[in-house]
Amino acid sequence: MTILLTGGTGKSATPLATLLLEAKQSVVLANRSGRVPEPFEGVRFDWLDPSTYTIPFDSHGDIDRIYLVAPGILDMFPPMKAFIDVAVQKGVKRFVLMSAGVLEMGGPAMGQVHQYLNTLNVEYCALRPSWFFENFTLEYADRINSHNDIFSGAEDGQVGYVSTEDIAEVAFKALVDDVIEHNNPVIVGPELLSYDKIAEMLTKVLGRKITHTRLTGDKLKQLFFAQGMPEDYADMMVTLDSWVAGGAEQQLYQRSDVVGKRTLHAFFEANTEVWRIED
Ligand SMILES: NC(=O)c1ccc[n+]([C@@H]2O[C@H](COP(=O)([O-])OP(=O)(O)OC[C@H]3O[C@@H](n4cnc5c(N)ncnc54)[C@H](OP(=O)(O)O)[C@@H]3O)[C@@H](O)[C@H]2O)c1
Repeated sequence: MTILLTGGTGKSATPLATLLLEAKQSVVLANRSGRVPEPFEGVRFDWLDPSTYTIPFDSHGDIDRIYLVAPGILDMFPPMKAFIDVAVQKGVKRFVLMSAGVLEMGGPAMGQVHQYLNTLNVEYCALRPSWFFENFTLEYADRINSHNDIFSGAEDGQVGYVSTEDIAEVAFKALVDDVIEHNNPVIVGPELLSYDKIAEMLTKVLGRKITHTRLTGDKLKQLFFAQGMPEDYADMMVTLDSWVAGGAEQQLYQRSDVVGKRTLHAFFEANTEVWRIED
């Protein structure tokens, strides 16, 4: 029995892969190159190239559970449906989908995949986490270092930022337990934080002033676009920030199923090297 992790070298699959390895589960990491860090086994797989969909099953005939991480395009449903259909044909019995807190089953983006899984005769879990701590060490890091700011369209809205290590613990159980405990757990971190508060926290940890730059939807979209994000995906990200501004993440927090234990402050303390600026 082998577990395939799509998005295998990404933010959420990385700690999940470690937990599976420690538990001596057979695990294979999929990404576009098939190159993965030691001691993991990698396999080449590209959501946008259907000719790669059978490669994982050709190399590992016993894959029976899959962790699904969507490609970074807005219309992810067609390729994800096509691959899920191949996987079911190959004998996969369980899927764990990385969705998102604010996405209901049947809603946009991964909400469509969630709904499709619900129509199939398979076991599944749609993880619905809030925003990841790791955004600050990856996507936001260059901007923090070049402009000493974090930017958002979230105004004073608060977010239950959560560690991917806490998410991985939920994903691990959903992949490994005999019976899945929650079908669509909303996962948040231990505190609700505004971007002003996060900037203050970074300021204290880094010992230099970091500000929260408040952007209009248009400006935010321009920035995402300039960073190489497809235009429709940038529109979705702007919408998500406007939902934060409107209190959607605060409401989500009130009905969470899992509250992570790791704090953003401890994460900042552990990663100060990422935001170090040479004198
Ligand atoms: N970031 C957040 O705050 C947050 C919050 C809630 C939900 N989410 C959701 O989480 C998902 C992203 O998960 P993540 O952050 O764990 O992933 P990630 O860090 O964005 O990593 C993407 C992974 O997918 C691989 N990949 C990229 N394009 C691919 C393609 N076309 N075919 C196959 N593999 C591909 C990458 O490897 P290669 O590039 O080497 O192929 C990498 O392993 C998104 O759907 C997002 O909406 C994110």
